[in-house]
Amino acid sequence: MSESQNIKSVLTEDRVFPQSAAFVSQARLDADRLAALHAAAARDHVGFWGDLAKKELGWQTPFTRVLDDSQAPNYRWFTDGKLNASANCLDRHLGARGDKLAIRFEGEKGDTRNYTYRQLHAEVCRVANALKALGIGKGDRVVIYMPMVPEAVMAMQACARIGAIHSIVFGGFSSTALKDRIEDAGARLLITADGGHRGGQIVELKRAADDALAQGCKTLDKVLVLKRTGHDVAFDARRDVWWHEIVPKQSERCDPQWVESEHPLFLLYTSGSTGKPKGIQHSTGGYLLGAMTTCQWVFDLRDDDVFWCTADVGWITGHSYVCYGPLACGATILMYEGAPTVPDAGRFWKIAQDHGVTIFYTAPTAIRALMRLGDDWPKRYDLSKLRLLGSVGEPINPEAWMWYHKVIGKEQLPIVDTWWQTETGSIMISPIPGAVPTKPGSCTKPLPGIAVEVVDEAGDVLTGKDAGGYLVITKPWPSMLRTIWNDNERYLKTYWGQFSNRYYVAGDSTHRDEDGYYWIMGRIDDVLNVSGHRLGTMEIESALVSHPAVAEAAVVGRPHEIKGESVFAFVICRGERPRGAEAEQLAKTLRDHVGREIGALAKPDEIRFADNLPKTRSGKIMRRLLRSIAKGEEITQDVSTLENPAIVKQLAGQD
Ligand code: PRX
Repeated sequence: MSESQNIKSVLTEDRVFPQSAAFVSQARLDADRLAALHAAAARDHVGFWGDLAKKELGWQTPFTRVLDDSQAPNYRWFTDGKLNASANCLDRHLGARGDKLAIRFEGEKGDTRNYTYRQLHAEVCRVANALKALGIGKGDRVVIYMPMVPEAVMAMQACARIGAIHSIVFGGFSSTALKDRIEDAGARLLITADGGHRGGQIVELKRAADDALAQGCKTLDKVLVLKRTGHDVAFDARRDVWWHEIVPKQSERCDPQWVESEHPLFLLYTSGSTGKPKGIQHSTGGYLLGAMTTCQWVFDLRDDDVFWCTADVGWITGHSYVCYGPLACGATILMYEGAPTVPDAGRFWKIAQDHGVTIFYTAPTAIRALMRLGDDWPKRYDLSKLRLLGSVGEPINPEAWMWYHKVIGKEQLPIVDTWWQTETGSIMISPIPGAVPTKPGSCTKPLPGIAVEVVDEAGDVLTGKDAGGYLVITKPWPSMLRTIWNDNERYLKTYWGQFSNRYYVAGDSTHRDEDGYYWIMGRIDDVLNVSGHRLGTMEIESALVSHPAVAEAAVVGRPHEIKGESVFAFVICRGERPRGAEAEQLAKTLRDHVGREIGALAKPDEIRFADNLPKTRSGKIMRRLLRSIAKGEEITQDVSTLENPAIVKQLAGQD
C-alpha cells in the first residue's frame, strides 16, 4: 500500500463505530463522566492536574505548588512535593493486593514465572540494595540493556527506589549505540544479561556490552550481569558482577529514597531529525501521574485485568504501559520475551488465551504482520477474556484496524488508537473506550487536560471544521519531557523554537475532521518510523558515511506493507560506482555496517548506488525527489533547478 493510498483511504474513511453497550455499562468513564473531566480541565487546567496528583499519587511530602512556569518552557510540576515512584508502584499495594499477581512472565521456550506484589516488592528491594552495595545512589545514571524478563522491570523499579536515574537501551541496538548512550548519560553502572532469547536465537547482550566498554565508557565502574541464557560469555572479575551472586543475599527491605517530584526518573534516548539521539528526561511525579491516569482512562484498567502491552521496556511504551502505569494502578501485567511467531503464527494468541489476557496493546506493524498470516491462527484460541484492544506507534491503516476489530475483537471490543511520543510520556490523543465512538485510522480526540491544536506554517491556530497542519500542544502537561539531558538548548530549539515558545511542536502533521477527530499523517521532519521504531535519517546517513567506501549518503523512507516504512539509502562511493555483483556485495557490507553502528532495525532494505545526489544549486539535497524515486513514482517534479538534472535517471535505477 502506498503512502498516498493510505492517506486517501484515511481521508475518505467515514465509518463510525459506537461503543458496545456492554462495555459502556461497566466502564470507568462513560460520556457524562468524560464530559465532566473535560469541563473541569477547561475551567482550571492547573487545578485539574493538581487535584488528580493529590488523589492518585502517594506523597511522602504533599506539594503546595502545582505548576511552576517561571522558567517556561522548562515547566515544573508539583515542585515542593516528595514521593517515590517505586513506593507508588509496589509498597502501596502490599496491604490490599500483596498476594495478587503483579507480573506473569512467559519466555519464548515456554518457561513461566509469576510474581505477586509482595514477591516483586521483595525482589526490587534486594536489587535496590545490590545497587547500593555497588556504590549507586540518588542521581547516578544506570544504563539497562536487558531482555524482556521480569528482572528488567525489577532493575527499573530498583533504580527508582533509590533515586538513581535509569536509561534503558533497547536490546536490538548495537554496541556502538550502547556506548554512545552510556557516554552521553555519564552512567556509572550497566545492568545487562548474558543474552536474551528471540526467534530461536540468542541475542548476544553481554558480548555487545563488552564491545561497548572496549570502545570507551570511562564513567562506568561496574557491570551487573543477569544469567538468562546460560551460554558462555566473557567475564571480567574486576568489573563484572553476577546478579545471582549479589542480589539474593541482600535484605528484602529497602526504604524508598524520597525524591522531589521533579527528580529525573529516567532518561530515554530517541532519534531526532538532526544529530545524535537525544536523552529525553522525564520527571518522577508528573510522569507517574500521566502513566497512571491514562491507564485508568484509556485502558479502563481495573483490579482483575491482565494487561499485555507487547512493547519492549527499551521503548517509552514499555516504560509507561509495562513498568510504571499498570503497576501504579495495581494491575497484573504480562511480559513475554520472544518473537510473535515462534514456534508458529499463533503464539501471541496462545499467550493471550493461556494467561487470560483482558487488555491487549500492540503496534500496527504487528497487527499487519499477524493479519497477513491469516484468520485461522487467532481462531484456534479462546480469546474470550479480551475486553479491550489498543494500538500505538504509527498510524494504523483502516484495513488493519478493521481486521483487528473483526477477527480479534469479534466486532465487540473497543479499539483505542493511542497517539503519543517518547517526549509526551503518556498517551495524549485516544478514544475513551466507554465514551468516544471510533473511526478506523483516527486516534479520535485529546484526553482531558491535554490541549491540542492544529496550526499553519505561521503558527496560527486553525479553527476550521476541516483543518490540516502541524500538531501542537498549547498548555503544559505533567508527564511532558523536562529537557534533553545535557542539552537544554536543543530542547528549546527542537520543541519550542518553531513558533517562538508558544507551543510544544510534536513533529507530526495532522488533519482534524468536522467531528474534531484527529488523523495523524506522519512526521514532518526527517524521522522515519520503521515498524513503530523511530529512526533519524541523519543517524543512518552518518553510519553509512563512517564506512571507508562511502563518500556521501542520503536516506529516505519508503512505504512498506508491514513495517509502515522501510529504509532506502542512496549511496555515493569514493571510487567508481559499483555495479552488478560488486554492488550487491558492497550493499551487503554496508547493511551489516549500519547494523553494527546502530542496530539491525536501522539496516536499509535497499541501497542504490549513484554518481551523485540530486542537489539544488545551493547544494541542498532534494529529499522530496529522493522519496518519490524510492517509491518508484513517475517524476513529475521540476528538476530543471537541479545542479545535475541528468542524475535523476541514474538514481531511478534506469542507468
Ligand atoms: O509520528 C508519531 C508516531 O510515533 C511518533 C513517536 O514515536 P516514539 O517517540 O518512538 O513513540 C512511539 C510510542 C508512543 C509520533 O511522533 N505515532 C505514535 N503513535 C501514533 C503515531 N502515529 C499515528 N498514530 C498513533 N497512534
